[in-house]
Amino acid sequence: MPSFVFSPAGWLQPLRLLVAHGWLREAGVDAWLGALRADWRLNRTFARVHSLRWVAADMLALRLKANRNWPGARPGQAVLVYGERDGVRLARCYSLTVVRGRVLELAIKRQPGGRFADKLIDTLLPGDVLELGAPSGELEWPRDADSGVLLLAAGSGITALYGLLREALAKGCKQPVWLLHSVRRREQRAFVPELQALMARHPNLRVQWLITGEPAGEGELHGRLGAEHLRDLPAHSLLACGPHGFVQGALSLWSAEPRAGTAQWEAFSPPPAQVAGAGQAVRLEFARSGLRAEGDDQRSLLEQAEARGLKPKHGCRQGICTECTCQLLEGRVRDLRSGRETSEPGQPIRICVSAPLSDVRIDL
Ligand code: FES
Repeated sequence: MPSFVFSPAGWLQPLRLLVAHGWLREAGVDAWLGALRADWRLNRTFARVHSLRWVAADMLALRLKANRNWPGARPGQAVLVYGERDGVRLARCYSLTVVRGRVLELAIKRQPGGRFADKLIDTLLPGDVLELGAPSGELEWPRDADSGVLLLAAGSGITALYGLLREALAKGCKQPVWLLHSVRRREQRAFVPELQALMARHPNLRVQWLITGEPAGEGELHGRLGAEHLRDLPAHSLLACGPHGFVQGALSLWSAEPRAGTAQWEAFSPPPAQVAGAGQAVRLEFARSGLRAEGDDQRSLLEQAEARGLKPKHGCRQGICTECTCQLLEGRVRDLRSGRETSEPGQPIRICVSAPLSDVRIDL
């Protein structure tokens, strides 16, 4: 028997044209579409929660189906998840562990005092709808992986690396791969059955857990990540993901030995906050706002703009989502994560992780 499925896909394009020509307002069209079905929108990506499962004692994985505005992504990239708490719109960045067309999975970890993550974990139900931002993130499986790949994750840093690992193995990766996941308590080890199943299917994969806050179990390592944990490893390309301090430690351990491969990393916590007034004084000019102010060369431009009453668009505050990107018009800035300097006028910079090194003018 023929079936009829009502879908807006056919008539969204004419609506987009009407919006583009100013005949309709996008917000109005979205309100109308959203009233018809919670995940329908003209251009924005909304996703329906299909299922939820605990993948660690404090980490909940969401299986989602995005609407047709989803632009596509690869595992290991991250998306902003938008939500509201006490009337304030908030967003947090989560890595995609599964991407199959419009079917996505991401995992949310409880955070001490994490109002956003805890609310999602405590209230989300299958059928609920979430708004997602555009995918971002540059981590990718190393092209020069011949000598093997070393994956170092701490806490929820496992999510980005697990997504990349699954995809690489599914595509036939045969090089030695060693994944070390550092957690404080054993119950925080995530995706354990899935990783054990991957090890059983792929003899080139070795997974180990490093327990930092309590005695380790059999076959596990104990203590903070140190040179002794990486001894005897063949030369490897490195992918590291975790809090800023863990990533910095992983990079210095990895680069202490000559290695054949490359290092990629992503830190999901910003570098330690600096005190206002510390460091060298610089002049800041926010061109579009017409604001000039004294600043310093220690704190991010985002922090310094906010301290002066501006409200720049932002998402993750970790240099991942690109929401805060502005053009550097004049001056020199430093990436707080890598120390890399940029001084080319017109260059896009992520102001949440860029600090001025000289007087600067930015398009904000
Ligand atoms: S706020 Fe996400 S990159 Fe700056």
